Order: sequence, then C-alpha cells, then structure tokens
Amino acid sequence: MKEDIINTSNNRMEENMDMKKLRRLPYAHVVSTENGYIFFNRLVNVPIEFPRYGTDEVVIQPSVIAVCGSDVHAHDQDSGTHPFAKHPLSNGEKGFIPFHEGVGIIKAVGSNVKSLKIGDRVAIESTIFSDDCPPGRWSQSEKMKIVGLGTDGLGSELAVLPGKVAVRISKGVSDELGAQFEPLGVSVHAWMRAMNVYETTTKKDAREAWFMINGGTGSVGGLALTSLIAEGVPEEHIIATGTTPAKLEALKEKYPKLNVFNLTDKTQTQEILEQVTPRLELEGFGGKIPIVIEATGHDPRPIFPFVGKGTVFVVVGLSSDLQQGENLMDNNNFVVRSQRTILTFGNKKDEQLIKTAKAIFEKTVTKEREPKILTIDSSTDIPNLLAERDYFDIVINRTGSFPEDIDKLLKKGGIWITQPIKGNSPLPTQELLEREVILVGSWGRDKEDWDVMASQVREGRLSADKLPITLFEFSEEGLNSAFENVRKGKVGFKMGRRAEKYVN
Ligand SMILES: NC(=O)c1ccc[n+]([C@@H]2O[C@H](COP(=O)([O-])OP(=O)(O)OC[C@H]3O[C@@H](n4cnc5c(N)ncnc54)[C@H](OP(=O)(O)O)[C@@H]3O)[C@@H](O)[C@H]2O)c1
Repeated sequence: MKEDIINTSNNRMEENMDMKKLRRLPYAHVVSTENGYIFFNRLVNVPIEFPRYGTDEVVIQPSVIAVCGSDVHAHDQDSGTHPFAKHPLSNGEKGFIPFHEGVGIIKAVGSNVKSLKIGDRVAIESTIFSDDCPPGRWSQSEKMKIVGLGTDGLGSELAVLPGKVAVRISKGVSDELGAQFEPLGVSVHAWMRAMNVYETTTKKDAREAWFMINGGTGSVGGLALTSLIAEGVPEEHIIATGTTPAKLEALKEKYPKLNVFNLTDKTQTQEILEQVTPRLELEGFGGKIPIVIEATGHDPRPIFPFVGKGTVFVVVGLSSDLQQGENLMDNNNFVVRSQRTILTFGNKKDEQLIKTAKAIFEKTVTKEREPKILTIDSSTDIPNLLAERDYFDIVINRTGSFPEDIDKLLKKGGIWITQPIKGNSPLPTQELLEREVILVGSWGRDKEDWDVMASQVREGRLSADKLPITLFEFSEEGLNSAFENVRKGKVGFKMGRRAEKYVN
C-alpha cells in the first residue's frame, strides 16, 4: 500500500506541520532481546520526516493510547495467549510498532479515503478487514490483520494506518472514552451476538432476559456488564462471577443489586443457584439462565448448573490451555475466532433446524443473500469440495462422526447443526451440547457495535467514568506503569486489567 505514495510536493493532502517539534514516542520500535524480554528502543528528541502514506491510508497524531493485555503479551513474548501476538522479531529486526487502542487527529488523508478529512478526531477499530466480509461485519473477514500486532500500530508521533480502521467520533465522546471503544466493542459484540441469537430463537425481548457474565471481574466481563446496564438490562438480572474476593466485593460495591459469586467457592455457587432458580422459573426461563457470556478463557464447568436447553452460551474468552488438533470442536479457533454458532439436533426435525439456522444467518451474517447450505452424510466427498473451494454458511452434519477437515467447509460466522462432540476439551463442547445450549463464538467488533456505543454515549447512558479502567499518558513512565499494571492483572486488587481507580 505504501508504494503508492501521494505526499509529494505537488499533491499534498496533509497538514503542514513543524516536524522539529515532533518527537517519536519511546517504545516505538522493537530492536533487541535480553533475558527473553523484548526492549523497545528509546527514540526521543528525534525530528522525523512526515511519514509516507498510501492512497488508502491516513496519518494520525494520537492523543490518547491505551495499553491492552495483547500489547503486554506481545511485549513479553507471551505469544500463546494471543493469536496475533507473534514474537515481534519474527517480522525481521524491526517488529511492529505497538498499540491499537486509541484516539487521534487525522493529519493526512490518502486520495482513496473519502470518508475522512484532515482535522477529524478518530478512534481506532483494530481489525484490518479485507473486503470478503458482508458490509459492516468486519469480524467475519477471512483475512483480517490486527493493528499493532500484525502490522504497525499507533505507538508513534505520527501513525500511518489504513483509512478504514479510523472511525470518526463526535464531540460528546472524550478521548479517554474513544480510546476504549475498541475493547468495549469486544464486550458489546458478545452481548449483541447473544441478543441477536436469543431473539431469533425465542422471539422474546433480550433486554428482559437474565444474563450471566462469567468473568465479570475481568476487563471484557466488566465492560460487558457496564454496557449491558447502560443498555437497560436491570442489575438484578445479571449474575457476575470471578475468582478474586476483593474484585468481587468491588463489583458489588459499584453495582449493589448485581448477583455476584466466587466460582471457586462451591457454597456461594449453591447459594446463588438456590436464590435465582425460583425467580428464573417464575419469570418463564425454565429455571435456567437464558444468556451466558463466557469471558474468562477458563473451564466454565462451575457455571453449568445454571445453563440448559435453549441457553445462548456466547464464548468470547480464549482458552489459555488450547489443545490443538484433538478434535475439531476442541479449540477456540473453531468457535471463537471463527464466530460459529452451533445448534444440536435434539428432537427437532431438519426443516425446523434449517429455518432457525437461516434466521440466525440473516440476523448475524447478512440479509443480502441466501445462505449456502450443505448436508453431509457418509457419501459426501469433503476433499473434493475443499479442492473446489466450495464453502458453506450452514452445514448439517449427519455422518455421526467428524471426518477430517470437515470444519474447513464452514465459513466464518457460519452455523453448524450437529450432535454433541466427544473429546477431551478445554472448552467442554460435549457437555454444553448435551444440555442443548446454543453455542455462539464472538470475536472482535462490527460496525453495529460502534453504533450501539455511540448511541449509549449520545443518550448519556455511557461515559468514561462508568468504565472499569484507567488510561495512561504519553510518557515512558506512563507506559512502564501501564505495562506493569496489566501484568499485575491476574493477582492485582482491581476490577479490570486497567482498573487502578478501584485499587484502594
Ligand atoms: N474474542 C475476542 O475478541 C477477545 C478479545 C479480547 C479478549 N479476549 C479474551 O477474553 C478473555 C478475558 O480477557 P480479559 O482481558 O477480560 O482478561 P482479565 O481481565 O484477566 O479477566 C479474566 C477473568 O477470568 C477470571 N479468572 C481468572 N482465573 C480464572 C479461573 N481459573 N477460572 C475461572 N475464571 C478465572 C478472572 O477472575 P478474577 O479476576 O476475579 O480472578 C477475570 O474475571 C481472555 O481469554 C482473552 O484472551 C477475547
């Protein structure tokens, strides 16, 4: 993209800036390793050239950057916990400029970028999607990259990014809040997918349902419950779990009507179960939680007593102990990153299941075209279909088993109809499907999630002070301390990974 440069003296579309005043941020480039850690080179007081940018790109001067857990995993070479956080040196000596959560001002616009102009304030959508996804469904792009993890990010005085990841924000959105739209969007995306599937399968209003947030003390879970409450879901209809008593107490202090319990304490689990089951019976949910958001990445078995037939079980957490290749349902690649929905046969007829799957497809993928459907039986020639690059939106598996590579037939966002899968899995799909839950993967954000966040802000339901986060300033100290705080997240005394505010 950068080959096609437009910032020549005859064709300037950039702000006239005094480059001597610009300083590169510390940590802008990864240059060396020592004791297994990556050190970012400290480049300060270095006047730089106005960066070269392509016709599809913009130049952004960041005003606020937030540090995400993925940045720390990339920095610490903890690549197992993030799919794109490869060893930074694997991209040659330079590595990628980090950071993907932030807000900045547009300083230059490539000639193909029609939606933005110099001076616009933008937040970053970190998914660099390709045009293979339905409009606005960025999370379903088959060939996505992530800003700052698979390509250069925001961590420099002037950052060059594809124009399509810069989202203009209105005056009512503070820089701090805008910088959090990216992670907040992950949470909104998860409950939006849950609501879409729930409303399609039950014809009931999801805002009147009950929600369980497994990992409500975490960042994704904490943001999910904040935005669900902003969306009008009553606190008393949300059950939040965690494992750290102090964080659970902080959560209860902030939201007194929330149902909160410690997953590691069986007595608490039993108490909550006894309290909520009669209410769930009375309110027509058959004694089971209708919507679960799994946001821990850990074994969710402790919450199984709460789920049952028809529960929409959204998995957003990425398993920290993936056992790749045991069987095709065993890893989160199949469910989370590919955003599949899995329905079980139960005692339903094929026509009923196809009708439900088509309705879910229309709501969660696109209305613009009919889904492509395949029923697999023992005579289906899967290798041939794959060789022909024949992929499907809905696949009904009637083979009684899982032939090799069967999962490759299903597109991202696609819907599986199948029997429960046997296997030793960190995501116990077998047990969930035996209970006839509807399993839904959730990954990244879509345009509609940005629209939801924007309207929550516009209508005064969401503001930066409602989020369980703290932002750090542009300084070496700030970044060091942000990294340290994110690292401490697992043992820290805080509500979310950036929740210093709640530390005391
Ligand atoms: N799908 C996506 O697009 C996407 C995007 C971002 C993140 N993620 C994934 O979402 C998950 C949560 O991320 P996060 O940033 O919110 O992490 P986080 O802030 O560290 O939160 C983790 C949550 O898991 C709980 N937890 C810790 N150990 C546990 C255990 N052994 N059993 C059950 N729960 C346990 C924590 O409880 P306590 O804090 O109370 O101990 C906390 O509530 C991660 O797997 C992450 O990779 C997915």
